[in-house]
Amino acid sequence: MKINDNFEKLPESYLFSTVAARLREYREANPDADVIRMDIGDVTLPIPDAAIQAMHRAVDDMAQKSTFHGYGPEQGYAFLRDAVAANDYAPLGVDIASDEIFISDGAKSDLGNLGDIYSRDSIVAVADPGYPVYVDSNVIDGRGGSLADRHWSRFVYLPCSEQNGFKPVPPTEHADIIFLCSPANPTGVAFSRAELKAWVDYALANDAVIVYDSAYCAYITDPDVPASIYQIEGARQCAIEIRSFSKTAGFTGLRCGYTVVPHSLFGFDEEGNKVSLRKLWLRRQTTKFNGASYIIQRGAEALYSDEGKKQVRANVEYYLTNARLIRESMSKAGFTVYGGDNSPYIWVKSPNGEPSWELFDTCLKRVNISCTPGVGFGDAGEGFIRLTGFNTFENTKEAMRRFLSYFQQ
Ligand code: MLT
Repeated sequence: MKINDNFEKLPESYLFSTVAARLREYREANPDADVIRMDIGDVTLPIPDAAIQAMHRAVDDMAQKSTFHGYGPEQGYAFLRDAVAANDYAPLGVDIASDEIFISDGAKSDLGNLGDIYSRDSIVAVADPGYPVYVDSNVIDGRGGSLADRHWSRFVYLPCSEQNGFKPVPPTEHADIIFLCSPANPTGVAFSRAELKAWVDYALANDAVIVYDSAYCAYITDPDVPASIYQIEGARQCAIEIRSFSKTAGFTGLRCGYTVVPHSLFGFDEEGNKVSLRKLWLRRQTTKFNGASYIIQRGAEALYSDEGKKQVRANVEYYLTNARLIRESMSKAGFTVYGGDNSPYIWVKSPNGEPSWELFDTCLKRVNISCTPGVGFGDAGEGFIRLTGFNTFENTKEAMRRFLSYFQQ
């Protein structure tokens, strides 16, 4: 058989696997080193109790003939979809129907799987730097073209730099699919309403679709930052929104998220006929996906109870406190920093223009902190590293003590 040779065009391993391998190597060579992980955005607080209790009950359901659940609906159970519509959208004044919500095993899977519904020759626009799944999954699907100078020939890159506050602006050229993330991974910055409106206008004018990664919306503290793209007029005609329970309720290991595909969203076939994207996504999910597990969906549903909401809020506040501490300490240590106020991520500039991997090595070897090299998120991330606020408060404090004692002049 012939393989999908797009895989051979990709870098040998996925960014976070490369970081983990470097870390493993270092730990093997330095078994006594007490490394504090501030690289991958994995959470450290346990699952909120409301979800734990609900999952215990759901396990018991599985033990009784009368309450046992086999295959679930591919789109997700109505109890969870209704809870999402009523709690995540209705309070924003956004009318999202339960049947426009698709429960999944997480945002990452959906971001990659969505590639099944748009054509192989679509022009994809990605923020640089950005979450590597946007680029890698589209390269795998054959939309990258060839790689030269760390740029894929068929992508439209949306440069994010200090000059534009790391906020991508609509390009002059045409794109069909635009990946936007706000608050952004990795830079931690978030779009205002006006900035997001410019993107919706661009998408409508270009018959394009915005894939809006909203995995970090619970971290928004600024009232001018919209939590959902559907708060912007016209977005129901041009946007798919993806969210996750990972960073709010610690579901990184349990796996659950959702994708909103409105009824009012259309693409075009070869003959120019309008086709409902929701219909295609439903077809894709019913064919290739059997739904997130009943137990996990019951856990996610409980996050919308009064107790669950309080517990989720407490988790988010905890990580935001860490993020604030990182931002303030790294500034004090002489670094230029971005993000960390509407986001768990802090984007840190190399003090003397060192390349990202060099600063990664310095952090690992000199202060035993592992971070994510900015260049791993794209060429424009060169010269930066990303730190996360997802470790424990104690570890974050200790990490900042080390940074300050090593770097502060
Ligand atoms: C990150 O560190 O960027 C994220 O944790 C990765 C992910 O959510 O898959």
